[in-house]
Amino acid sequence: MDRFLIRGGGELEGRVDVSGAKNAALPILAASLLSAEALELRNVPQLQDVRTMQRLLAGMGVQIQREGDWMRLQASDLFSVEAPYDLVKTMRASILVLGPLLGRFGEARVSLPGGCAIGQRPVDQHIKGLEAMGAEIRIEHGYLLARADRLRGARIVTDMVTVTGTENLLMAAVLAEGETLIENAAREPEVVDLARVLVAMGAHIQGIGSDQLRVEGVHALRGASHRIMPDRIEAGTLLCAAAACGGRIRITSALPASMDATLEKLREAGASLQTGEDWVELAMHERPLPVNLRTAPYPGFATDMQAQFMALNALADGTSIIHETIFENRFMHVQELNRLGANIQIEGNTAVVKGVRGLSGARVMATDLRASAALVIAGLVAEGETSVERIYHLDRGYEGMEGKLQQLGARVERVRA
Ligand code: UD1
Repeated sequence: MDRFLIRGGGELEGRVDVSGAKNAALPILAASLLSAEALELRNVPQLQDVRTMQRLLAGMGVQIQREGDWMRLQASDLFSVEAPYDLVKTMRASILVLGPLLGRFGEARVSLPGGCAIGQRPVDQHIKGLEAMGAEIRIEHGYLLARADRLRGARIVTDMVTVTGTENLLMAAVLAEGETLIENAAREPEVVDLARVLVAMGAHIQGIGSDQLRVEGVHALRGASHRIMPDRIEAGTLLCAAAACGGRIRITSALPASMDATLEKLREAGASLQTGEDWVELAMHERPLPVNLRTAPYPGFATDMQAQFMALNALADGTSIIHETIFENRFMHVQELNRLGANIQIEGNTAVVKGVRGLSGARVMATDLRASAALVIAGLVAEGETSVERIYHLDRGYEGMEGKLQQLGARVERVRA
């Protein structure tokens, strides 16, 4: 298993491009199932999760061409409507094929994802919504077996805001008969990016970007081309790294308009920020100030930025409180940050972070995607050498992270197993 070897200390300086958003790319790739015509995409990030989605779709018969960040997918003939356990267990977002398969082919067989490192993460809301649209769903041998002659429009109110749940229901609704109303819909920019692709394919959707999506089903969708939005979490991670290390960086090909909560908290931490339409510049020359956080659905503070901000808070001049309200087990980075010398205590879904002056390098283990990013940030600051092991978690969602950090002057290298 690859690891990162980091020699900490030193400010970050320079300029780096952000890649396309993983969480927009995954549902958009799945949307290719909705049409017999080709979907052409640009700015597709080269990530393990994207490769998993590619394998999943190719295994059903979707024809895929890929060159760099360009991709063309065409689902004219499928020979399978199954998402097998071996792929689903490595990526929960595989569930995103359920809505489109059911919408277009009236049939899907998708392995249940099971638990994951950051909590239970059930898919009951996906199922409830599809059943309201007339699908018959049962569980057999660990698989969700779903059937419907043609889905019909329905009013769906989800019990909580769910991102992939909203995306699945939206993709099912675009080919359903009549009108579907999705209430309490997720407003994440990635949901908006997906909705835009669907509209380009001929879907009728109103309320895009709001918590109420109104969809008038159509009989068929056509091909389209689309550029995947920039990854706001990758951008936020790089900014957190620079805020922790100090220095001045400029990130480009970004979308600051999707990053308000993160930028606001970085300002509170003492960073000075400037933004343009597609760039952000951060300068930080003081020890960070402590910042209290509460994760929430968009436009609140993203749970996917919580771990990285905790690494920053670990160094702050004072104590901060972090509430994680989305996932019940998303503090697994705490033990490892403490091994680097941080002083963090957890009580239920709250972490109390007492800032320390410095961290000291050690061997640490990545446990999930964003936890890995937090450990990398801590390692960049820590005195001496830090080895972040099981970096495959990071590779699921960050494209060439070590290259981007090196571009900013960080001393980080990948040690291949
Ligand atoms: C997506 C993101 C992930 C991010 C998360 C929250 C993708 C591919 N992944 O994950 O990076 O951390 O949003 O912003 O976009 N829930 C249920 N039942 C359901 C669905 C969800 O109880 O049927 C709960 C979850 O356990 C969680 C909360 O709802 O507590 C929000 O989860 P959700 O928004 O669905 O997360 P994902 O879509 O899996």
